[in-house]
Amino acid sequence: MTILITGGAGFIGSHVVRLFVNKYKNYKICNLDLLTYAGNLENLKDIENEPNYHFIKGDINDSDFINNLFKTYQFDAVIHLAAESHVDRSIEDPLSFVKTNVFGTVNLLNAAKKIWKEDFERKLFYHISTDEVYGTLGETGLFTETTSYDPNSPYSASKASSDHFVRAYGETYGMPYIISNCSNNYGQNQFPEKLIPLFINNIINNKPLPVYGDGNYTRDWLYVIDHAIAIELIFCSGKTGETYNIGGFNEWKNIDLVKLLCEQMDSKLNRSIGTSKKLITYVKDRPGHDLRYAIDASKIKNELGWEPSVTFEEGLKKTIDWYLNNEDWLSNVTTGTYQAYYEKQYNNSK
Ligand code: NAD
Ligand code: TYD
Repeated sequence: MTILITGGAGFIGSHVVRLFVNKYKNYKICNLDLLTYAGNLENLKDIENEPNYHFIKGDINDSDFINNLFKTYQFDAVIHLAAESHVDRSIEDPLSFVKTNVFGTVNLLNAAKKIWKEDFERKLFYHISTDEVYGTLGETGLFTETTSYDPNSPYSASKASSDHFVRAYGETYGMPYIISNCSNNYGQNQFPEKLIPLFINNIINNKPLPVYGDGNYTRDWLYVIDHAIAIELIFCSGKTGETYNIGGFNEWKNIDLVKLLCEQMDSKLNRSIGTSKKLITYVKDRPGHDLRYAIDASKIKNELGWEPSVTFEEGLKKTIDWYLNNEDWLSNVTTGTYQAYYEKQYNNSK
């Protein structure tokens, strides 16, 4: 089998690539990534010389390039993770999200359709999506696979749109597809613009921890390696034409999570307990901020036997240890354009 994984140099993609390269020695695993600010080949240093691993630098928005790539490699399956992934950036620049997340996905679907059209047998387009497509929950309830789409941010609207296109290609052209919608991931190699790695980095550097609004927003957190395991399981055993929700059974209010992170960081850094908490700064809220996400992951649990393997305490400890032991990685990604983004994003604090 030759498998195309898009966005494999990013946070989740790099864990998926590693899992497939190490587990499927007889498959050719091709990682296509544009290496935007979020893509980093350092994430894959340990497997870059494996004979079944191929890296291709390229843009999913470039139709000619994508069509040629499919012609050359004759992929049997696609696991599509490449995307613009940060909500705050989508508020600043929605069109770049439309371009990559919608147009780029349709480009890949077209290329797959062209190559596979004679025979969809044993082919699969697996699209990796987010729980944010469902919009927001109130204080109670859970997102199931049949919850209506109701996206609120340009990011989630672009992901919802890409999900619809994937499903439409299934209905219209018979494209064999699967979609999974996952909750917030955390773990090693996450770019420090998302809540947990941003706050770890700021605590290390004694910088303010910018909590949006009152901090009473809830997310369901999943350790990234458990997401990669779920993706592999769905890829191998999921039913085509189905959607699977993936979640951590692990809801946290932002402010409670941040306080826990502060305590764990204090003890790792040998600072007296309470030191990092003093860095918490309430800042202007994110526009259209979704109050609560929470996943009902019973379908993947009951049908495929998947459950998170790591508790939140363990996962957070591993994550903190990784960032503390990989300061070079952190400083390499926090220099340059990221600094400019950071200044722009947070200089309007309340
Ligand atoms: P990320 O931002 O860390 O990585 C995205 C990767 O895509 C980067 O390597 C980037 O270089 C690449 N990329 C961007 N534009 C590209 C283009 N035009 N052509 C080729 N490559 C391009 O994102 P992530 O957090 O790893 O998320 C991966 C996928 O999982 C996304 O589709 C995201 O919507 C989805 N998802 C993320 C989360 C989460 O909590 N991070 C949760 C659920 C679903
Ligand atoms: P984030 O990691 O951006 O993921 P998402 O928006 O996709 O859920 O944010 C997680 C939560 O943390 C979300 O409610 C927004 C909040 N947040 C802050 O309070 N401050 C910050 O600086 C960031 C980046 C996020």
